[in-house]
Amino acid sequence: MSSIADLRKSYERAELDESASQSNPLSQFEQWLNEAIAAQVPEPNAMTLATVGSDLRPSTRVVLIKGYDAQGIVWYTNFESRKGQELAANPFAALQFHWVELERVVRIEGRVEKVSDLEADAYYASRPLDSRIGAWASPQSQVISGRGVLVANAAKYAAQFLLNPPRPPHWGGYRLRPDNWQFWQGRKSRLHDRLQYRLEGGSGGGWLRQRLAP
Ligand SMILES: Cc1cc2nc3c(=O)[nH]c(=O)nc-3n(C[C@H](O)[C@H](O)[C@H](O)COP(=O)(O)O)c2cc1C
Repeated sequence: MSSIADLRKSYERAELDESASQSNPLSQFEQWLNEAIAAQVPEPNAMTLATVGSDLRPSTRVVLIKGYDAQGIVWYTNFESRKGQELAANPFAALQFHWVELERVVRIEGRVEKVSDLEADAYYASRPLDSRIGAWASPQSQVISGRGVLVANAAKYAAQFLLNPPRPPHWGGYRLRPDNWQFWQGRKSRLHDRLQYRLEGGSGGGWLRQRLAP
């Protein structure tokens, strides 16, 4: 039986070159995300979100990207969840996409804020009914006595709100405003390509692109 320590793979699919990469990290991200979607990688929109609360212990979980533009990267969740509490204590977070089949990783860091009520309402209204009820039914990250709690909550809120549940006050969106992006492309012999884009001079400034050693 082979050891887990012997599992390794050579990355040879593609390269990430300064001359061929975009000068704006958002354009580079858009290009790679679209390539991940076109390549039909599983859940190309899934990203790991890392937060650090007041206890200074990092925690991670997977969330789905629901929007991106020059303002930042948006996802939706329960504000009272562990991640919500950690973001309330410390607004800095990191995101990571790992598109395994493309041998690519994108890392994004920055400050997080809540999206507006208007924006959250519009997204909430676009969700399927069971997801809208689910946002009411799940006291996310809290200890519950069993699965029955969720089923009972879902039935209760479905009966209460029928077809038109309002957005729960504890549920909405966050937007991470990137000040650091990193694009990783696996290469042969562990000599991977890594391009970092750092925001210079605050939000009105420009992006400094630098190569990092793998
Ligand atoms: C593919 C995938 C997508 C997910 N998307 C979300 C999401 O968009 N929002 C969310 O709150 N949880 C999402 N989850 C669940 C989270 O990973 C996590 O279990 C939950 O948010 C509670 O995390 P917390 O206790 O650290 O706050 C997703 C899980 C997976 C595997």
